[in-house]
Amino acid sequence: MNFPKGFLIGASTAAHQVEGNNIHSDYWALEHMAYSSFTEPSGDAVDHYNRFEEDIRLMAEAGLNAYRFSIEWARIEPQPGEFDEKEIAHYRAVLECCRANGIEPIVTMHHFTSPKWLICQGGWEAEETVQKFADYCAYVVRQLGDLMHYVCTINEANMGLQIAAISQRYMRMMQKNGEKARASAESSVQVGINLEANSMMERMKKQAAENMQLFGTPQPQIFVSGRTENGDKLVMRAHQAARAAMKAVKPDLQVGITLSLHDIQSVDGGEEAALKEWTEEFLHYLPFIQEDDFFGVQNYTRTIMGPEGSRPVPEGAETTQMGYEFYPQALENVIRSVHKRLPIPLMITENGIATADDSRRVAFMEQALAGVSRCIEDGIPVLGYCHWSLLDNFEWQKGFSMTFGLVSVNRTTMERTPKKSLTVLGSFAG
Ligand code: BGC
Repeated sequence: MNFPKGFLIGASTAAHQVEGNNIHSDYWALEHMAYSSFTEPSGDAVDHYNRFEEDIRLMAEAGLNAYRFSIEWARIEPQPGEFDEKEIAHYRAVLECCRANGIEPIVTMHHFTSPKWLICQGGWEAEETVQKFADYCAYVVRQLGDLMHYVCTINEANMGLQIAAISQRYMRMMQKNGEKARASAESSVQVGINLEANSMMERMKKQAAENMQLFGTPQPQIFVSGRTENGDKLVMRAHQAARAAMKAVKPDLQVGITLSLHDIQSVDGGEEAALKEWTEEFLHYLPFIQEDDFFGVQNYTRTIMGPEGSRPVPEGAETTQMGYEFYPQALENVIRSVHKRLPIPLMITENGIATADDSRRVAFMEQALAGVSRCIEDGIPVLGYCHWSLLDNFEWQKGFSMTFGLVSVNRTTMERTPKKSLTVLGSFAG
């Protein structure tokens, strides 16, 4: 498998999942609630904030030439309108370290976590958030734009609608099937969420009271809350406003957004349901992203639709720690489907597998990359592939139990141990 010259091969992380001590963020507050839905708090995470040099060096030594990471809004603007220059200096050091190691940085401006104050002011359903997000992005580009080339505004902008759909389906199924419904609903979203099972109503009431104290509302609108249609559009307008604001500062900045995309397949009679799903997950965003410089594809598995809706993982199929079907062919299918409707350059910003068996990660990435290579041969402009994730890290509500990393971390000593998959990934870089 040969990739064209300049093809980017890298790994991805997100600030909150690896840096540690993101104390001004909404997630930090949520993780420390008495009735938290998080398995454990993020704490020091994997101390990437202090060990980024070692982590970037590990990538470079293995031959990787790109690193996708996020800048944390809650660090840059811990209080409304107060920007912290120390944190700008920190991210400048990260960007410089990438450049010094021959690694192209791909910067995400928002990866799920927000400043806590933003959520107290209405969060991702409040009109003002559009401007606030654009202001933060423009500030970062004014300070750090000289070292930036690729920027993703928002990670998985479609996650809110996916969560809303899943919660509704879960509620309906719970009435029928109990525990089976929980497992099935959790594994149909490409991110670690825990759905509350027993005494759900009771717990929800207690959480609502705590939310009131923390955020001034019983139902805080964090980025990964079930989104309304209006909120969904608001997120896309935030993307467009941020793109315009950043380009006003640096016109040649390459700006895109990322979406969580399943390879949606159908069995007999499921075609209509599959089209509906794909429209909701991808097609209806087209008017907001057609003018972007590139598009970030994030894919982990497939979904099979029957006439009744999405089907459980096929009997006997290999599954990952997250409960997803092991199905690396999904990436190629998603790239082809996206390209048909959005013929702009694509960047694979996430693709990976949670497993304790690194040989399965190697097999997954080899098959996924073979698919990417076939797409490129067919003329589809794919700029690069970033594997999720560089490090075993904090998988949101599921805590540290999911191992997605190319590098494992001993969380007592914070010692890093590269896995074979890191070397294999590096071997694909030109
Ligand atoms: C998210 C990551 C997450 C990964 C694995 C993606 O949806 O962007 O933050 O850790 O999936 O679940």
